[in-house]
Amino acid sequence: MRADPARYEFASDNTAGICPEAFAALQQANEKNTPAYGEDRWTAHVCDRVRETFETDCDVYLVFNGTAANALSLAQLCQSFHSIICHEYSHLQTDECGAPEFFTKGSKLLLIDGANGKIDIAQAEAVIARQNELHSHKPRVISIGQATEFGTAYTPAEIAAITEFARAGNMFLHMDGARFANAIASLNCPPKAITWQVGVDVLCFGGTKNGAAAGELVVFFNREIAGDFDYRMKQGGQLGSKMRFLAAPWLGLLTDDVWLRNAQHANRLARRLADRLQNEAKIDIVFPVEANAVFVRMGERLVRELHACGWHFYKFIEPDVYRLMCSWATTAEEISDFIADIVALDH
Ligand SMILES: Cc1ncc(COP(=O)(O)O)c(C=O)c1O
Repeated sequence: MRADPARYEFASDNTAGICPEAFAALQQANEKNTPAYGEDRWTAHVCDRVRETFETDCDVYLVFNGTAANALSLAQLCQSFHSIICHEYSHLQTDECGAPEFFTKGSKLLLIDGANGKIDIAQAEAVIARQNELHSHKPRVISIGQATEFGTAYTPAEIAAITEFARAGNMFLHMDGARFANAIASLNCPPKAITWQVGVDVLCFGGTKNGAAAGELVVFFNREIAGDFDYRMKQGGQLGSKMRFLAAPWLGLLTDDVWLRNAQHANRLARRLADRLQNEAKIDIVFPVEANAVFVRMGERLVRELHACGWHFYKFIEPDVYRLMCSWATTAEEISDFIADIVALDH
């Protein structure tokens, strides 16, 4: 067993570099004197390519990161007295430092439980029923993660059921798609089948975890709610002056299905990691592995020893559930190294 220097392969899908196709596109965009603030041809091409990918006319914006995409798109939908229904383990709730509440100037997150990281509609109904008309925040948006924070994917029918519920209560549907590509790779369906065709109003489409350096798309399928979003981006500090450098890598991803191949690779390796952990190391897998995340139950001693070997990964749920992520860059050898260390530690 090695005592290697720090190894971050499974800590996050953000630890990977920029994929070659995105990097090449970035270099191509590195020309002199190109219009700024999104007036460049790279940004225009990406917006067109997104409309082709989703097979619909939609309004498309580029921001720097996923927290901003979520918070600003929610701010577009909510006033301060509104509420947003989301899973208790959603990124909105656990990892955005209150950005949704901050940018909506006080909207409240209503937290819903549900198996495998998915919102349970019956619970959402019960929580909404407890809202006290004028005296509580008014439910306005349901937000779902696709893929979920637990590495599962909502089926088109599950999303349609949530939309039906949302519409019955005059609510919008927001999708946090930081790993949208992994969900599409998992479900093997056209992007429209889990977005506008099943009623998604706005999608935050993640590029960073898919192979870009930065840059997430905010895609409004419901164009009526997109008005002045560029002003909101600017005020939120998210209007890139050299936007072409956010856009160009997206062009690399959306050409020749690179985004899908990257996600398919990450999902395949996550499946392999889960199978080997289960079969060779007798480790429990906690949630269905449908995207690029593997959640495992591990004892404290094993985790301490793996960390001492150099492997970095994080606890996600108390007391003993850890998350292992695969990315476009994960290799079979890295998985073999990890499994070999676990087996050698003989937990
Ligand atoms: C589900 C989900 N949404 C959004 C984000 C975006 O986060 P960031 O602001 O770090 O780009 C992440 C990143 O980890 C995520 O996992």
